Amino acid sequence: MLMLLLLLVPALVAGGTECNPRDFGADSVVCVCTASDCDLQGVIPVPGDGLFTTVTSSRDGLRFAQNTSPLESTPNPDADVSLILDHNTEYQTIFGFGGAFTDSTGINIATLPLEAQDFLIRSYFSPDGIEYNLCRLPMAGSDFSIRPYSYDDVEGDVDLVYFNLTIEDYQYKLPYIKQAQQVAHRELLLFGSPWSPPAWMKESGTFNGSGSILKEMWEPYANYFIKFLQAYEAEGAPMWGVTMQNEPMTGLEDWAWNTCYWSPEDTRDWIKTYLGPAMESAGYGDVQLMIDDHNRDTIPAYVLPCLDDAGCYQYVDGTALHWYADWWTSPDSMDETHNLYPEKYLLYTESCDGWNSGPDERVILGSWVRAENYAFDVLEDLNHWATGWVDWNMALSMGGGPNWANNYVDSPIIINTDAGEFYKQPMFYALGHFSKFIPPGSIRMASSVSGPGSGDVIAVAVHNIPSQTDVVIILNRGDSGKSVSVDSGSGVEFMNFAMPAKSITTVLFHEH
Ligand SMILES: *[C@@H]1O[C@H](CO)[C@@H](O)[C@H](O)[C@H]1NC(C)=O
Ligand SMILES: *[C@@H]1O[C@H](CO)[C@@H](O)[C@H](O)[C@H]1NC(C)=O
Repeated sequence: MLMLLLLLVPALVAGGTECNPRDFGADSVVCVCTASDCDLQGVIPVPGDGLFTTVTSSRDGLRFAQNTSPLESTPNPDADVSLILDHNTEYQTIFGFGGAFTDSTGINIATLPLEAQDFLIRSYFSPDGIEYNLCRLPMAGSDFSIRPYSYDDVEGDVDLVYFNLTIEDYQYKLPYIKQAQQVAHRELLLFGSPWSPPAWMKESGTFNGSGSILKEMWEPYANYFIKFLQAYEAEGAPMWGVTMQNEPMTGLEDWAWNTCYWSPEDTRDWIKTYLGPAMESAGYGDVQLMIDDHNRDTIPAYVLPCLDDAGCYQYVDGTALHWYADWWTSPDSMDETHNLYPEKYLLYTESCDGWNSGPDERVILGSWVRAENYAFDVLEDLNHWATGWVDWNMALSMGGGPNWANNYVDSPIIINTDAGEFYKQPMFYALGHFSKFIPPGSIRMASSVSGPGSGDVIAVAVHNIPSQTDVVIILNRGDSGKSVSVDSGSGVEFMNFAMPAKSITTVLFHEH
């Protein structure tokens, strides 16, 4: 298997290859990939002194279109949008970007011809593609599985004698994690999230529905985390981190799929008494431990009982957030949480579009609206202390599944099993405008946007520390093109260029 894969990995593409567009009747197009053809963005170098490069995707069909121009010594005084970078004001360090190795992702990828599978993995992970480096995986099953299960479904097995990874890990998660590790030039950081403990550890005795874990199971469940960390490490996929529980508040409701309620106080007490000490003594004290893993309308209230308690605080590294309440909650809660505990980071760990849509719109092939939703949210979150942004399923079927609880949603890659091809949605490129150009270790810097067209525009500026370059990412949500003038921060070097209507541009230049 490994030999075969090595032979399949071709040389990196210089300059990238073109999108093969297809119109499914939405406001934009998908790029079609088959066993023999797939667009790859290629290695996009930062240009030499005196030059800058723009990379643009748009509703009207551009996908990572590159243009290199000279820096100018004066700004465009008539620009619709002016942007000024402030290198002296720096904020959070970035961990990275990525998606989730769900069972459904692997189930879908496995239906493609091998060469198309290889294109898909390269598209996400290789220097030819959008270079994801931070990925989540459910610890055992989630709703994006074909059955609910845990790593120990033997009732009453408190010693976890029967703990074991499952067929899903071996068939649908680990093989693709391995392939990603193989093509990636960046270190692949993985973190696990449980949707539910084993059903027999819970009050309800079921994976779904409402309720919590039984208190007498607190110790066995901490050991269950350790067994998971050991099992994945033994398979060559050690964890960078874990979140304590996916969306704990859903366990307050009669929830249709795997969940478990943890009150903020129980979170505190379990971590300080069981999980934290267990990780420490098993040699996993350096594995990142994140709490909340739910929407930003839960912060800061949900994380305070833990962070205000020295016993819990010492074990927790950050707050994980999902985007599902971002439409009606202000990012101010992120600033507030950051300001209370600036040494504990904020990380977006799950988002998908289509989750609140009608049955026919769970997947929309070629939706620019959804690309814009993604880009806007990433920009807003980065501007409010997010240290990264991890998408949900990396690949779903034409219907947005499989999902054992019929909770179908959209994904940046949709797989058409019958045709042996897959479609890169506009969302794929929207995320690529960040993931490819903001490597881990980058630091956000201050920037300000002004000008008559600035109401349509949101931007972020990042100092790419590993390559000593600067990166600016701009989203134009307007229905008209914009002339843009970026002051590199020196006051003597300006980048004057145009952005099309409904577009995302990444700007790259060497800093001085
Ligand atoms: C764990 O599962 C794998 C794959 O299903 C199997 O090969 C292995 O024997 C199992 N180990 C135990 C201890 O049951
Ligand atoms: C929980 O899952 C079972 C199937 O395992 C299903 O029959 C039941 O309706 C689900 N509960 C809720 C509240 O949806």
